[in-house]
Amino acid sequence: MAEAKMVFPPDFRWGTATASHQVEGNNKNSDWWAWEQEPGHILNNHKSGAACDWWQNAEADLDLAAAMGTNAHRMSLEWSRIEPEPAVFDQSAIDRYREILTAMHDRGIEPMVTLHHFSNPVWLVEKGDFNTSIVVDYFQRYTAKVVETLGDLIPKWVTINEPLVYLFSRYLEKQFPAPHRTGWPGAAAAFQNLLRCHAVAYHTIKDKFPDAMVGVAKNMAIFEPRPGGSRIDQWWANRISWLFNDSWMDSMEDGRMRWPAGRGRIKGLAGSFDFVGINYYSRYYVKFPPRRGIYDKEWGPNAVVSDGAYGEVYPAGLFQLIKRVLRYKRPIFITENGLPDAADRLRSAFLLSHLREIWRAISFCFPVMGYYHWSLVDNFEWHQGWTLRFGLIEMDPDTQERRVRESGKLYGDICRSQSIDSQMAQQYAPELMASMFPGQAPGPKTDES
Ligand code: FCB
Repeated sequence: MAEAKMVFPPDFRWGTATASHQVEGNNKNSDWWAWEQEPGHILNNHKSGAACDWWQNAEADLDLAAAMGTNAHRMSLEWSRIEPEPAVFDQSAIDRYREILTAMHDRGIEPMVTLHHFSNPVWLVEKGDFNTSIVVDYFQRYTAKVVETLGDLIPKWVTINEPLVYLFSRYLEKQFPAPHRTGWPGAAAAFQNLLRCHAVAYHTIKDKFPDAMVGVAKNMAIFEPRPGGSRIDQWWANRISWLFNDSWMDSMEDGRMRWPAGRGRIKGLAGSFDFVGINYYSRYYVKFPPRRGIYDKEWGPNAVVSDGAYGEVYPAGLFQLIKRVLRYKRPIFITENGLPDAADRLRSAFLLSHLREIWRAISFCFPVMGYYHWSLVDNFEWHQGWTLRFGLIEMDPDTQERRVRESGKLYGDICRSQSIDSQMAQQYAPELMASMFPGQAPGPKTDES
């Protein structure tokens, strides 16, 4: 039987994603580095240490990414390297970033660059960071320096990574380095200042590079009541979904802040994004009242769950979220998607099933332009340290040895052929054949067969 194939458009971006603090190593001027040194903050007291050694040798992993056939990579810049002291810029750090970005271009890998991915210079935190409005001028100054010195190498930009995750983890859950103010007042002030930072960064980039595409990477999740849940659970799921998935996006669209940030308008915010970046990981069952926080991480009894009870694997959610953001009428990039899976038990099926949802979206003419898998290589997973392994490439932080996982080989086949097909499913995730390629799956044995 001929093999069934789902073919993607020729200009689709096939990417991977990383963030500076998680891969560079020895980020000694960042608030995360300081936080890791105090026992009790990171699972098993792990430290980022040399991380994936990208500051010395990002090129080695970029070689592997190029060999896989990827044509895009999302990375971030470490503000604390570029500006280790207020208004003191480190030219050698900027030079190193130029080298890394050039190494990508040389390998046919288009960079998408994030300005803020969870970590801050220690000096900024001492001054009050996102709780104080002064951060906006600082962020603009940093962005202007990046635009001036690196902008010619950066066609796609993310100003802020996952603003709501940052707020939740930092102010409400206290999993990220502790700020000066915590709780809702801290989160509300930071929400407002993050929106302001985004708006000034957007215009700082676009003034110099009008053709650059600028957006944010917005973590979005599916929140639903458990089957058979009450109407109040449904109401709560809708509220959380609005807060987590829509409030930031709606503010960027019309320039008006949303709860809990306040009600006013922010100058330059309306329409300040050229694409929607979706970071998608999971679905949660929600009930009211939650046991703690605003929602509990729960799923159904038959859910496929990744390592460390990180979350349910729920590919259909990606299609639902793509549909949800169509109202912004912008190109869509999946700026992160992946799972912790050290044994590589689920990742191949995860890749095929999530990419199938994207292909389905494209076949409805939904404008999904690219996919950045989190992550290229195992890296330092914030407060969970080295316990969660997201890499297409397995990496031992003690020896720095690498091995491309089977799922990494599959991603290579996908990127090179710009398609997913039944043969790949048969080889890497035969359990998917019946649901994904029903016409091709071996049927039940009959007397004639
Ligand atoms: C996202 C973060 C990224 C990584 C993945 C697993 O929320 O943006 O840095 O930690 O989760």
